[in-house]
Amino acid sequence: METVLSGIRSTGHLHLGNYYGALRNFVKLQDEYKCFFFIADLHSLTTHPHPDDFHSSVKIILSEYLAAGLDPEKSALFVQSDIPEICELYVLLNMLAYKGELERTTSFKDKVRKQADNVNAGLLTYPVLMASDILIHRATKVPVGKDQEQHLEIARVLARRFNNLYGTEVFPEPHALSFGKDLIKVPGLDGSGKMGKSEGNGIYLNDDQQTITKKVMKAVTDAGPTKPNSEMPDSVKNLFTLLSIVSEPSTVEYFREKYNDCSIRYGDLKKQLAADICKQTLPIKERIDAIYNDDEYLRKAVRRGTEQARESAAATLALAKKAVGFKVF
Ligand code: TRP
Repeated sequence: METVLSGIRSTGHLHLGNYYGALRNFVKLQDEYKCFFFIADLHSLTTHPHPDDFHSSVKIILSEYLAAGLDPEKSALFVQSDIPEICELYVLLNMLAYKGELERTTSFKDKVRKQADNVNAGLLTYPVLMASDILIHRATKVPVGKDQEQHLEIARVLARRFNNLYGTEVFPEPHALSFGKDLIKVPGLDGSGKMGKSEGNGIYLNDDQQTITKKVMKAVTDAGPTKPNSEMPDSVKNLFTLLSIVSEPSTVEYFREKYNDCSIRYGDLKKQLAADICKQTLPIKERIDAIYNDDEYLRKAVRRGTEQARESAAATLALAKKAVGFKVF
């Protein structure tokens, strides 16, 4: 059975875009593959989070993933920093990663622009750490978005380079697992592009009813259609897309007809949208709150995953070290 692996950065709460765009698909993968899902807490150190917040952000993401359906009985769930073998492989791979190729990474160039006062070496070697996450389990399928494709390419280059240099086949090449037609792009509420963390246009899985309603009622629209069957502006199209994700098809149809005959009242559409989002997310929020406050459950959920991950990581690292030429006295 092929191995699927994905890392989740421990920054902020999950929004609807994360849920419908990725997480729901992760949940389905659990029945088809051997799955490793982990919280990339080491990666988050590149931005120097405050120690007081560090653990709680890991706990938040873990609770939200569990609440949304990741199952510790099916997948190995763990925290990156609990697997020291990742860091050891990271050292080995850093010797094979060239400064020039890392500097050319889009994500690195972005960060140099955005956080010019903190261009640390961890940022430069971010893709090497990510390659270590993947290669340490010899995972071949990695469900990630477009923004991570370049990092995956670096993981493939490093796997190949290691195998060639040391005359081994320890590392298979990992590839992006794409969800094809199942991939849902969730738009934001500000009339622009997709829902994102930094854009402030999102609805979060842990938002309560009042927050959700307020956000949806404030969503950007236009003055309303004046001619029958006119083209929708992007902002209104986005609301319809959101509606089609969370509501019944008949509801979408009802408002589409109202739009087409110019009798639509955006306030009604928004009220319906807010109610239907709440219907989907409030049960998840309830589970998030319960899980977040249940340390025993959280401990159990990661214990088994950590054991599985360490066993798999230790086996790979032993092969890699043997290939490099390490020998114990
Ligand atoms: N870089 C990924 C992101 O920002 C997170 C990540 C870290 C990851 N290690 C990984 C994803 C390994 C897939 C596999 O989303």
